[in-house]
Amino acid sequence: MLPFQRGCWQRTFMAEEKSILLIVAGGIAAYKSLELVRLLRRQGIAVRAVMTGSAHEFVTPLSLGVLTEDEVYGDMFNLKEEREIGHIQLSREADLIVVCPATANILAKMASGIADDLATTILLATDKPVLAVPAMNVRMWGHAATQRNLKQLRSDGIHVMQPDEGGMACGEFGPGRLPEPLDIAKQICDLLSHPFDTALSSGRAPTTIAAAPLEAQPDFAPPEHRPLYGKHVLITAGPTREAIDPVRYIANRSSGRQGFAIAQAAADAGAEVTLIAGPVHLATPAGVIRIDVESALEMQAAVEAALPADAAIMVAAVADWRAATNAEQKIKKKGDTPAPLQLVENPDILAGLAKHKTRPELLIGFAAETEKIVEHATAKLAKKGCDWIVANDVSGDVMGGTHNAVTLVTAEGHDAWDDAPKDAVARKLIEKIVEKIGDTDER
Ligand code: CTP
Repeated sequence: MLPFQRGCWQRTFMAEEKSILLIVAGGIAAYKSLELVRLLRRQGIAVRAVMTGSAHEFVTPLSLGVLTEDEVYGDMFNLKEEREIGHIQLSREADLIVVCPATANILAKMASGIADDLATTILLATDKPVLAVPAMNVRMWGHAATQRNLKQLRSDGIHVMQPDEGGMACGEFGPGRLPEPLDIAKQICDLLSHPFDTALSSGRAPTTIAAAPLEAQPDFAPPEHRPLYGKHVLITAGPTREAIDPVRYIANRSSGRQGFAIAQAAADAGAEVTLIAGPVHLATPAGVIRIDVESALEMQAAVEAALPADAAIMVAAVADWRAATNAEQKIKKKGDTPAPLQLVENPDILAGLAKHKTRPELLIGFAAETEKIVEHATAKLAKKGCDWIVANDVSGDVMGGTHNAVTLVTAEGHDAWDDAPKDAVARKLIEKIVEKIGDTDER
């Protein structure tokens, strides 16, 4: 069972904590709300999230719930929610309400006082300050109706951020892009009169060391002796699960063990670790930030949201294809003819990261091979644009097993390691990473 369930994570904000209620509306920029939550949490701001119905098309309550460490709300008529925490209370507990992304649709509803779901009901019922962060297609932004609504909202006292200008997901160019999450986070801190600490937002561990910074980690050693201290390491692990209908999916046999072992070894070496995990039955390694996802598209969004990183190790066995359509209802048998299953290719997350504007300094891929291991891995290194490939010989019982026999393939050559337990392979790989990007000075 996935860790995110209604009711199981609801938490109480502490009186001294600044908190926001984040309303995520359904736009292509919704995935950036994940990065915004991450940035705000780093600044010590509590975030509770509400999603509109269409936001579910772009982000999952699971990802938001993991990052906010709280239940995610969305259903106006959910009796359980209404009993535990009503819509009035949701806004009462927050110091500021942030609508991000604010689509043309939700701005129009806000401007005319429509309350037809939980998000808009909260917005109509609140007496708290509201910040709207618009994101939409350039023509929608420029439309007289949207501009009229924005004018109305500003005169109603709503804070409205100016969108960025640039290329859009739809291929057009102009104003309407969601501002950078960092700028949104700064604006929120401003409105909350909460100091914004740049060091905390960099994606790296803070340079000042808290009293007991890593006490959750085993083998704790003072940070200055931990060679990856101050580095952010991003790891994907496990399989992905591609839905066909509400009960069926495409998946693979990856257990996630090797990726989880690497996450543990990286945390032990002092790194700040973000582990993006497909559906697996494994405990979260100590001291690691874990984000659970299901599909390749969710994994890709979570990877984007976790950037920047100093090193990325893509261990996940990402499904190469997903079903072209995810049927809303269970597909029924029709006579003797098997149901046709049309597939579309998933994005290559590793190859995308290699071309990303914030490409990690060290980018490592895994390759499952059954023959001509070095030859195939060398070809994959070039094809994917990564720095190293860890090629594992999956001709035996590796997927799901406890041991792994790998060959590290780099531009300089290759090195075959002896078959070893997965945590030993993980430690050896982390040692190599330390040699490349770590702080190995004797202090
Ligand atoms: N990968 C990814 N996104 C995908 C597919 C793979 O990020 N859509 C990453 C994996 O996490 C891994 C590497 O790419 O680091 C594996 O590459 P891939 O060629 O897809 O895997 P193999 O199964 O080894 O490839 P092939 O089937 O072509 O042998």
